[in-house]
Amino acid sequence: MNELIYEGKGKKLFATENASELVAEFKDDLTAFNAQKKSQEAGKGALNAAISAKLFGLLAENGVETHLIKPLDETRHLVKKVEIVPIEVVVRNVATGSLTKRLGIAEGTKLDFTLVEFYYKNDDLGDPILNDDHALLMKLCNAKEIEILKQKARKINEILLPFFAKVGLNLIDFKVEFGRDHNAGGKLLLADEISPDSCRFWDAKSGEKLDKDRFRQDLGGVKVAYEEVLRRIQGVL
Ligand code: TMP
Ligand code: ASP
Repeated sequence: MNELIYEGKGKKLFATENASELVAEFKDDLTAFNAQKKSQEAGKGALNAAISAKLFGLLAENGVETHLIKPLDETRHLVKKVEIVPIEVVVRNVATGSLTKRLGIAEGTKLDFTLVEFYYKNDDLGDPILNDDHALLMKLCNAKEIEILKQKARKINEILLPFFAKVGLNLIDFKVEFGRDHNAGGKLLLADEISPDSCRFWDAKSGEKLDKDRFRQDLGGVKVAYEEVLRRIQGVL
């Protein structure tokens, strides 16, 4: 077995014989609220691996470069080794979650424009929100990278929003992470995953939640919801 080099809440990363490639294994663990709430859902890792592979493929076809080289099996992706920028980039189309809590914007309000936010990827601090100056001050990235992160996040939204609308899902918000490819001059690649763990999807007709909020809010039917997202994506990709 290859050496485990990192274990996060949703994935494990293993070294490979090639120093510039890693294997990402999607876990069945479910966590929320900075892992204060924990569970497991057999088959969740495979669902996220399949959903993320499809979405990364769609984004690559549309000019968003990603770390994904190829899926290896049900739960594992071969990926380019990148240096993850410790910023969670959140894109919001509709107000819910921490936005409604922090600013009092009513749940379900369609935002007048796409909101892009940065959060510091630091579990000990509970992933606090950051402005551009905080990111610069802490040297998490440089000024040019800030603009690229925002631009890429908006472009991902412009591709995914109409894509999900086509399959009857309202893309409410999502979180993405990027990494520097040091074999390509530090170019920023979309990394990590895009899955129901990292997005909010509401059924366009019923408004039913088909994402990790089912776990966060004890709604039940987590796996059935993730399966439904994959089924709809597979219908068109
Ligand atoms: P929030 O409303 O809780 O800030 O979440 C915004 C989006 O980011 C939502 O789609 C869930 C996703 N997210 C993650 O992927 N990881 C996290 O740690 C958090 C807090 C949110
Ligand atoms: N991803 C975070 C956790 O695992 C928070 C969340 O998604 O709610 O704790």
